[in-house]
Amino acid sequence: MNKTPNHQLSRQKCPVTLSDVDLFAPGAQEHWYEAYPILHAEAPVVRLPGEGLKPGSDGFILTRYTDINRVVRDPERFPPTIGLAIGALLKTGVAPESAPRTNAMIASMATLRPTHALYRAHRQELTDPWVGPGAIRHETMIRRHVDELIDQWIGRGEVEFVSEFARPLPQRVMASVLGFPLEDIPRLAEWGTAQVEAFVHGRGHRNLLTEEQLAAQFERLDGFKAYVHEKVQEKRRAPGDDMISWLCEVEYQALGRKLTDMEVNGVVYAMVIGGLETTQYALEEQAQILCEHPELFRAISNDRKLIRPFTEECLRLRSPTQGLSTRVTSRDEVFQGVAVPAGSLLHLRFAAGNVDPEEWECPYEPQLDRRAVTRHLAFSAGPRVCPGAGISRLEQTIAWNRLLDRLDSISYAPGNTFEHQGGIMLGTLSLTLNFERKEET
Ligand code: HEM
Repeated sequence: MNKTPNHQLSRQKCPVTLSDVDLFAPGAQEHWYEAYPILHAEAPVVRLPGEGLKPGSDGFILTRYTDINRVVRDPERFPPTIGLAIGALLKTGVAPESAPRTNAMIASMATLRPTHALYRAHRQELTDPWVGPGAIRHETMIRRHVDELIDQWIGRGEVEFVSEFARPLPQRVMASVLGFPLEDIPRLAEWGTAQVEAFVHGRGHRNLLTEEQLAAQFERLDGFKAYVHEKVQEKRRAPGDDMISWLCEVEYQALGRKLTDMEVNGVVYAMVIGGLETTQYALEEQAQILCEHPELFRAISNDRKLIRPFTEECLRLRSPTQGLSTRVTSRDEVFQGVAVPAGSLLHLRFAAGNVDPEEWECPYEPQLDRRAVTRHLAFSAGPRVCPGAGISRLEQTIAWNRLLDRLDSISYAPGNTFEHQGGIMLGTLSLTLNFERKEET
């Protein structure tokens, strides 16, 4: 097991036996990686009584790679919860944008991509060219932001890596992709925080918010809706070279028409909710793995082709999105000998699948020469795999290339607590690093 300082310094009790394990208890994130070996050995499928979507149904945590991989690759048999919610919304006959407690992303899903075929088309036509395989077009822009951020602290010998690099980089990149001015980042970050409220402050595996939290969240996001609406109007009048301008113009072949304002707003909502924090967490954990393995720092510094396997191994070892309860069983199933009835809600524990000893040799060791290093589940897999994986991977690769161009070493500064934020993401709150600067040519 990988006993990193994160775990040693934690004030939470470390699980020793199965009865100690509760992945959703406050502070549980400090010991997720001590819980996974216990679950793999003793309870790879955990029943959560009464925690399904409907009253009387159960939730089930899956931690085996093979089970999670099977589920995400078969959306007919294991439908996504969001698809069910959209189906229910369409049945009401209420116009999606006027339905209560429905954000622009859900409303736009109801019109742009209510079926599996349209989901695929939406992705290929609308997001792939910008944040999927087409993200390569942003290379120069990303490199510029990386360099500007490093310039701000390179003269100092110490950096608070979260607030001075890992957080602002994806914020700047997504603002540039969408065509928002960089001065608006503080506001965008606040809205981004409101969007992910359930993943940070929600209770249990369903990330439930209280009525008050939900009401406050929708109130905070009203400003975002108005802001994007205003930007869409501006860009319809005077298009720029950005994703929103393009979305305003593009003919969506699958439906044979252009997008409405609400639909553009919905795609933008999805880009902000997915694009800001996840990549931040990946970069933070990568920095920690390099502090814990100086030999890796030297290896990837000397051979830049290793950066890609390095970032993939880190995504596998410390997955930013640890787990999501986003699929249901459409028929009776059996996972690892455990009967899971139709209508159960599945919590897919991607992070645990990524360190499953039945799938990975020495699962807690970073090994840059693994076979098919990208087969981890950090971005999920199958037809609904994360649509922003392309741009996130590009950001990580460029970030480490430039950091290694300019730094000779990194190490933990004294005083780090390695504490993580609550919720379902693996987000270190702060991380102070010492570094030696490379002599620049
Ligand atoms: C390290 C970074 C990231 C990680 C670990 C991550 C992980 C994930 C995972 C696990 C899912 C669930 C997929 C499923 O249900 O099977 C997801 C979905 C999603 N991600 Fe990411 N993501 C990252 C970066 C991004 C970025 C940069 C964007 C946007 C530019 C993005 C946008 C989305 C969206 C919109 C969805 C929902 C897709 C849907 O409609 O089902 N993600 N991501």
